[in-house]
Amino acid sequence: MDNLILYNGQLVPAGDAKISVFDPGFLYGESIFTTLAVRNRLPCFLSRHLDRLLETARQTELCEVPSRTALSDGVFRLLDSLGTPPALLRITLSPGPLMNFRLDSPTSGPSIWMVLPVYRTPLPPSLYRSGVVVGIGPVQSFGTTDPRFTHKTGNLFLSRWIRHHLPKDQFDALFRTPRGFFVEGTVSNLFWILKTGEILTPPETWGILPGVVRGVLLEVAHEIGIPVRWGSLTQRSVHQARGVFLTNSYIGLLPVRTLQTGRDAVAFDPLDPLLSRFSTELEHRLMQDLSHGNR
Ligand SMILES: Cc1ncc(COP(=O)(O)O)c(C=O)c1O
Repeated sequence: MDNLILYNGQLVPAGDAKISVFDPGFLYGESIFTTLAVRNRLPCFLSRHLDRLLETARQTELCEVPSRTALSDGVFRLLDSLGTPPALLRITLSPGPLMNFRLDSPTSGPSIWMVLPVYRTPLPPSLYRSGVVVGIGPVQSFGTTDPRFTHKTGNLFLSRWIRHHLPKDQFDALFRTPRGFFVEGTVSNLFWILKTGEILTPPETWGILPGVVRGVLLEVAHEIGIPVRWGSLTQRSVHQARGVFLTNSYIGLLPVRTLQTGRDAVAFDPLDPLLSRFSTELEHRLMQDLSHGNR
């Protein structure tokens, strides 16, 4: 593992990078970020990650953000400099210190940004055959107006809390709407494979995170002619699905074998043919993306 990060465009030893105690990123979780996978020392779906990150910066009114080229060059420079390539990279932008070190001031200068290597062991391939167990998380009043869910921000207390308290055998927990519809995991998007052969997934208007992998899979479904319906299932209607899977940049597409709903456990087929089809297509899109050197 290397001890090098990219900080405001400079390669520096990780221990030398500092953030102000008056930075709202630290004080209030007002930083924004994206986490992308690295394959063959190349960033996966970099262009899509930068699109979402810069759109989040715009919508959260972050000041003086680095250019897309600076971010992209920074990513490649860090990857070229690391002896051991990491499994993931996290690009973070934070507002920078509040003016005059006063908590009621606006920020004073350009946002600060960093690219950090994340050394994490890839999930064992057997997990993609067996599937994982997921549980039920808290009810969230999802809505497009809640930026904590529609953007990747540093305000991660709730999802980290849930993850720290997950039972050992559970991979993630699913948030629900007040009416009981499952929406997404703490770090993943949710897809159902209905018995009708359709895909069902919550729409962005429910206030979910517009995941990069989710976006790729929706394009795949459109291109190969698999019908997609917007919505989700509740604890009562899960029997309408024969399969269910989670997506994010680290796990890719991961089948769920069991949904643990209190004392009941609902089983799904982790080897559903549609799931294998999506996995193959996702891998194909990833290879295309990497070979285009997509910045
Ligand atoms: C709440 C949530 N939903 C979905 C995702 C998946 O996003 P992506 O596919 O861009 O990794 C994440 C990623 O961490 C997340 O935190």
